[in-house]
Amino acid sequence: MELETERLILLSFREEDVDIMAQLFANPDFMRFSLGVFTERKQTIAFIEKVMAWDRAGIPSQFAVVQRGEDAIIGYCGFFYHLEHGIEDIEIGYRLHPNYWNRGLITEAARAVRDHAFRDWKLLRVISLIHPENIPSRRVAEKNGMKVEKEITFRGFPTLVFAITREEWLAKRAAR
Ligand SMILES: CC(C)(COP(=O)(O)OP(=O)(O)OC[C@H]1O[C@@H](n2cnc3c(N)ncnc32)[C@H](O)[C@@H]1OP(=O)(O)O)[C@@H](O)C(=O)NCCC(=O)NCCS
Repeated sequence: MELETERLILLSFREEDVDIMAQLFANPDFMRFSLGVFTERKQTIAFIEKVMAWDRAGIPSQFAVVQRGEDAIIGYCGFFYHLEHGIEDIEIGYRLHPNYWNRGLITEAARAVRDHAFRDWKLLRVISLIHPENIPSRRVAEKNGMKVEKEITFRGFPTLVFAITREEWLAKRAAR
């Protein structure tokens, strides 16, 4: 599976992506507002295996973010599941190498992923789970047409639940 935007290609993850992803997961800026950097290679392997299993199962999954005309993965953007926390909605989650921040790249990626959710997967809702102090991520969610629905505690942290429904997405498209 592959999605394309003006500046980016979003690709399914492959086993060969472990090295470059391990570098990203070890970067404290890339891992801002997470449980912490990955210190062991097996943590990256577990991430890649998890998302590749979602691909194989034919369910919404994560994408590697690559700039058009480049080879290197600079981040990820795609879907996450949190059923173990009692959250039934599928999340759109993302991280980007700090060298590429504030160019609108993840907004571009997240919009493509949101459109994919409603157009191809026919989801009824998607959410993003964001720490209240994570201003850049809040901006991405807002630019993605999402609104704050409530504040919850997620993995022990205060967390805003941003959401957009299929109806809201359709209405926005019709208004364009
Ligand atoms: C969140 C993240 C993916 C955003 O990626 P990005 O490609 O830089 O995002 P964009 O450029 O599309 O949008 C960022 C927005 O935040 C704004 N922003 C960034 N820093 C800001 C600050 N300190 N104060 C106010 N606004 C800020 C930018 O101006 C931009 O908004 P604008 O288009 O209205 O100007 C990136 O910052 C990141 O990887 N952060 C660490 C990991 C993370 O927090 N992931 C999300 C977990 S919920």
